Amino acid sequence: MAGRGVGHDPHARWRQEQFVKIWMNGELRGADEARVSVFDHGFTVADGVFETLKIQDGSAFAVRRHLERLGRSAQGMGLPAPDLEEIRNGIDEVLAANRAEIPDLGRLRVTYTAGSGPLGSDRSPGGSGPTAVVAATPMTAWPESAAVITVAWPRNERSPLAGVKSTSYAENVIALAEARRQGASEALMADTQGRLCEGTGSNVLVVMGNRIITPTLGTGALPGITRSLVIEWCGVEEMDLPWESLGDADALMLTSSTRDVQPVHRIDERDLSPLPQIARDCVTEFRRRASLDIDP
Ligand SMILES: Cc1ncc(COP(=O)(O)O)c(C=O)c1O
Repeated sequence: MAGRGVGHDPHARWRQEQFVKIWMNGELRGADEARVSVFDHGFTVADGVFETLKIQDGSAFAVRRHLERLGRSAQGMGLPAPDLEEIRNGIDEVLAANRAEIPDLGRLRVTYTAGSGPLGSDRSPGGSGPTAVVAATPMTAWPESAAVITVAWPRNERSPLAGVKSTSYAENVIALAEARRQGASEALMADTQGRLCEGTGSNVLVVMGNRIITPTLGTGALPGITRSLVIEWCGVEEMDLPWESLGDADALMLTSSTRDVQPVHRIDERDLSPLPQIARDCVTEFRRRASLDIDP
């Protein structure tokens, strides 16, 4: 499996951020001038939500769906409704201002936090108002396939954050670091009831015979944009699966805005290649449909 994504770092070029222009609360700034207060509740207690979009040849993919989810995430956290039109303009400005730095593939991130607040969990009514940031960096393409590990830390499908793309990602950071330590690029988790859920930054597709199945949102999995597209475009079915079904799967794939639909060639010690035809067809169909419409 050497050379198949082990050690691959999609963020290898992120340090170029110093050349990149950032949009913050309505204004375009150099990365050095785009600064968030140390009292920002997003910084102190992860009181915020975010979106990650893929940039391809100067355009961001599926902006409408991402903005809608940002609005739903903000609502889910009780944050003031973000001005989605203003943020859309911010996305356009960042894409235009960074065209030279990010000519082909990039990652665009929208972060929206509660703004300045007390040094505890309370939200202060007298705070600064929300902080909205649009940032982008170049990205290295993910390899054709991924190695994944399973981890025992559960997703809590009963958490108030279930299904919300909150900036509270430390659990994902820890699980992903463990995956990296084991030479993999993703870690899969179950929910508290022992049902397959998702990865740290991706949804999971399970191929069983002539069906491709993804866990329902009842497991606490994020309502991924790519997940919703493969349900529409590739006939992927939503169904809960016991965690143990990973052992019987004919194939696995990951979906995310930066990975698109990425086959898994190894899970823990088990080799999963070659990829069945139905899975290859799904990858091809996703690529085809995505190339037809930048904002499906
Ligand atoms: C926890 C989690 N699940 C799933 C996904 C995939 O969602 P999307 O396809 O919208 O990128 C992500 C994306 O970053 C994620 O962080």
